[in-house]
Amino acid sequence: MKIVITRRIPEIIKQKLDANYTTYMWPEENVPIPYELLLEQVKDADALFTNVSDRIDKNVFQAAPNLKVVSTMAVGYDNIDIGEATARGIPVGHTPDVLSEAVADLTFALLLSTARKVVEAMSFIKADSWRGWGPMLLTGQNVYNSTIGIIGMGGIGKGVAKRAAGFGMRILYHNRRRREDMEQELGVEYSSLDNLLQASDFVVMLAPATLETRKMIGERELSLMKPTAILINTSRGSNIDETALIAALKKRKIWGAGLDVFEVEPIRADHPLIGLENVVLLPHIGSATVATRMEMAELTARHILMGLSGERIRNLVNPEAYKMRG
Ligand code: GLV
Ligand code: GLV
Repeated sequence: MKIVITRRIPEIIKQKLDANYTTYMWPEENVPIPYELLLEQVKDADALFTNVSDRIDKNVFQAAPNLKVVSTMAVGYDNIDIGEATARGIPVGHTPDVLSEAVADLTFALLLSTARKVVEAMSFIKADSWRGWGPMLLTGQNVYNSTIGIIGMGGIGKGVAKRAAGFGMRILYHNRRRREDMEQELGVEYSSLDNLLQASDFVVMLAPATLETRKMIGERELSLMKPTAILINTSRGSNIDETALIAALKKRKIWGAGLDVFEVEPIRADHPLIGLENVVLLPHIGSATVATRMEMAELTARHILMGLSGERIRNLVNPEAYKMRG
């Protein structure tokens, strides 16, 4: 049986797949497999090891009649046509939980660097602009004792809330369903979206990308935020209307934004966000620690092996897929 791996993964993980199966691995570290090559390679594939930058659409499933399992090295799976996978009885595995703390760390790193102009300050030194201490030079926004509003209260949201508590923050959250367990445990307060936007100094977007969350933050929502507020996004670019965000940042309707994700990735040097002063931009590195990425790769491989041996996948996106098989 054949496994298609759409990106170079650590050798030690690949060996586990090589042990009993034929593998095809796209050799690049940071360039996605061309879509046409993916379609070609999946023709005789039994399993697919994928990631956030591959589009696994209906065509891919149609091209792969033998496919038995899809496993993505990510928590988000908006790049995969889950309905199509389910209709074909193909289980899809993903990697929640193992990355929650790493993404929460990066979310806070982005929050702190945006609030305190950390990146701009280093550029200032590099440009040899530092001549002396200035009373209002590179002044940012207070983090300690401020109010944070978390949109999307899952594993990552919980991690961010724990960190925010250490910073003495008042913590509001908005979620599809109310999380009374987390209210008890963490002292977070449930809020409507509009109230959260109006009351927060930091609005942190952590919702998954779905039809309901698409452009959830647009012109109207941005206009509800304080002029001193900062928007952080470490979820998916599609959750925020980027054109509206750029306009709001230019007009200083909000104070700043820290973004790890974009509507279309990668962004290149000519992207309008790059010309703005009040942003910190990162190349989708939320879960990028050595230990977390190794755990994600390991879990993704394990899902492939489970899928091929007919075992039920542990972190399954579409339980209905098994019902389709009868
Ligand atoms: C990364 O974006 C992920 O979904 O894990
Ligand atoms: C700054 O360095 C201060 O001493 O206030």
